[in-house]
Amino acid sequence: MEQMKFAFFDAKPYDRPSFDKFSEAAGVSFKYFETKLNEDTVELAAGYDGVCVFVNDTVNASVIDRLCELGVKVVALRCAGFNNVDIKYAFGKIHVLRVPAYSPYAVAEHTVAMLLTSIRRIHKAYIRTRDFNFSLAGMTGFDLHGKTVGVIGTGRIGRVFIDICRGFGMKVLAYDKFPAEGLDNGDTVRYVPLDELFEKSDIISLHCPLTEDTYHIIDSEAIAKCRRGVVILNTSRGALVDAEALLAGIKSRKVGAACLDVYEEESDFFFEDFSGHIIEDDILARLISMPNVIVTSHQAFLTEEALSNIAETTVSNIVTYFETGMCENELCYRGGAAQDCKCGKCF
Ligand code: NAI
Repeated sequence: MEQMKFAFFDAKPYDRPSFDKFSEAAGVSFKYFETKLNEDTVELAAGYDGVCVFVNDTVNASVIDRLCELGVKVVALRCAGFNNVDIKYAFGKIHVLRVPAYSPYAVAEHTVAMLLTSIRRIHKAYIRTRDFNFSLAGMTGFDLHGKTVGVIGTGRIGRVFIDICRGFGMKVLAYDKFPAEGLDNGDTVRYVPLDELFEKSDIISLHCPLTEDTYHIIDSEAIAKCRRGVVILNTSRGALVDAEALLAGIKSRKVGAACLDVYEEESDFFFEDFSGHIIEDDILARLISMPNVIVTSHQAFLTEEALSNIAETTVSNIVTYFETGMCENELCYRGGAAQDCKCGKCF
């Protein structure tokens, strides 16, 4: 089979070793572009069989139309979430492949790392001791043991996170649109309505996808229902949380702490170095200025194991699709179009 040529957008130095390793043997060649895919950069895809994109590339209707005009056949997402792709519009026009799971441990463990850092003030201690300041003033944390954690989304990552929380001796209140069988044990892990989760949780962690249903699932109304001092963890997608409402909650002391690996407007900032710039986003700047807010730059996925799995599955998706015309990791939306779908994974 001829070599398959892919334009790789939003390429970072840490992407290349794993993608080069798996692509060479498989007959896939990647041309790495540092720029993100959007309406302005889509022309770079000319002459390629497919594009390989990440979480902050834009695959909306106009990008899809232009990709089709350029003869591009496949959008290979090197991530699990696909809220940045207009799946409905893509149906029948271009094939969209993704990596449904690469390391739920990477994301769940990062969530716990952020939680412990926040509640045990490790971020403060690190800076203090580097300055030989060994004072403990303001460092009092709290035990996780015996606390109640609310987990929204009990899929792959949510369930690993729950396992870790149970190891700490925490109680789990879970909410999912499609509850997982066998998870609720009627005692330490219970599915509850969303309002009950808000009312009874000391810590709330988001592990659901961003959809119309989950957009701003944490907003001012939700925060009003929460316990005073609630800790909010978001390592899923920025727009699950209304950042302005979160900031208000922090200022009013209703929210005790927030750990954010994702942010609603992150595509303007995350993954890039803005250290010498004046940040225009007042909400982000104000959140970062808070002593009880920790922000990481969408790095929860970034482990060696995850990078290797992402590259291996992305390349395998591409090869499988071009060899057989179908791929079990194809995303599909049956919008009543005439085209027969072969993916078997329609939703
Ligand atoms: P998954 O598909 O295994 O689980 C998602 C769960 O959310 C499912 O159980 C589903 O039923 C549930 N869900 C769907 N709609 C819901 C709703 N309206 N309310 C409550 N629950 C709902 O996905 P996985 O692998 O666990 O990933 C979860 C999310 O984590 C992804 O959607 C992605 O946004 C995010 N993610 C973040 C990464 C990072 O680096 N920060 C890396 C990978 C994923």
